[in-house]
Amino acid sequence: MHILILAGDGIGKEVTAQALKVLKAVVGGSASFEEAPIGGEGVKTAGKPLPDETLALAKKADAILFGAVGLAGDELGPRHLRPGGGLLKLRRELALYANFRPAILYPELVGASSLKPELVEGLDLMVLRELNGDIYYGEPRGISVNADGVREGVNTMRYTEPEIERIAHVGFKAARARRRKLCSVDKANVLETMVLWRETVTRVAKAYPDVEFRSLYVDAASMELLRAPKQFDLILAPNMFGDILSDAAAMLTGSIGMLPSASIGAGNKGLYEPVHGSAPDIAGKDIANPLAAILSAAMLLRHSLGRPEDAARIESAVRAVLAAGYRTADILQPGTRRVGTAGMGEAVLAALR
Ligand code: IPM
Ligand code: MG
Repeated sequence: MHILILAGDGIGKEVTAQALKVLKAVVGGSASFEEAPIGGEGVKTAGKPLPDETLALAKKADAILFGAVGLAGDELGPRHLRPGGGLLKLRRELALYANFRPAILYPELVGASSLKPELVEGLDLMVLRELNGDIYYGEPRGISVNADGVREGVNTMRYTEPEIERIAHVGFKAARARRRKLCSVDKANVLETMVLWRETVTRVAKAYPDVEFRSLYVDAASMELLRAPKQFDLILAPNMFGDILSDAAAMLTGSIGMLPSASIGAGNKGLYEPVHGSAPDIAGKDIANPLAAILSAAMLLRHSLGRPEDAARIESAVRAVLAAGYRTADILQPGTRRVGTAGMGEAVLAALR
């Protein structure tokens, strides 16, 4: 098994270093590792956010452990040099179209959630975000001067029926392995692309009569997510709405620093990354929470390497360090013990042993 490490920018480097330590401790010599630049690092070393060499290595690897990409003020630079573009291109080139973002509330972090304990206690939901289509990739796009001489920005929300069917099947199958409830999110009251989404998902649902199915408009879904999050089991969302709802779901669990993700396609290959970004404002200070990255390594073991027991070992170690009171700044509460990024990584390693 060959694993490519793409740590990227900002806190991506710090948290990935901890996840890599944990991963190596668990797989020992049975996997090989290689690192390559991406994002701002890619621009610096090879002149683009996804260097050709990095893409070639990613195509060959069995799995990719990803950190984060993005530098402060990115959005202002030219599009082809934007660090986030490296990740977007990689997701599409590798056809990793299904992005699983579990939001699980660890009992010890109930007080760190922004919602009342009774609303979030025991929360265990999954956002399944479509990752290869939608307004993220739709053409035409760009900023130009229109016929009236006025600058205009254009993006296109676009989905084909097969793209929707493909992710819907992944969603219903995943719901079957959980509590058999799937809520599809769209904006079918306004957007044609979303009418097609709703019709298609509703049709696919008929093949899974054992899964309780409903659709919500994205505005209502975000309201329900904050009002009564435990009503959800699996939320199926198009790319952009999934991006937004998964950040909201993350905060219910206490911190976005706790949320891992897996992006997978047709085979076993996958890209595993914390849901949080590169957080340039806290980079290099040893304060970022590495648990999302460490839990992403667990997802990698489960999905790409077929090692569910090792994945469970890492997840138990994370539970154990939380139970022992170790906290990074983002989940700190009175009476707990503050540690830095590396300190948290060490604590997880110690719990593994
Ligand atoms: C995410 C991020 C990315 C996205 C950015 C960094 C391009 O927000 O993975 O949620 O929008 O998909
Ligand atoms: Mg996001």
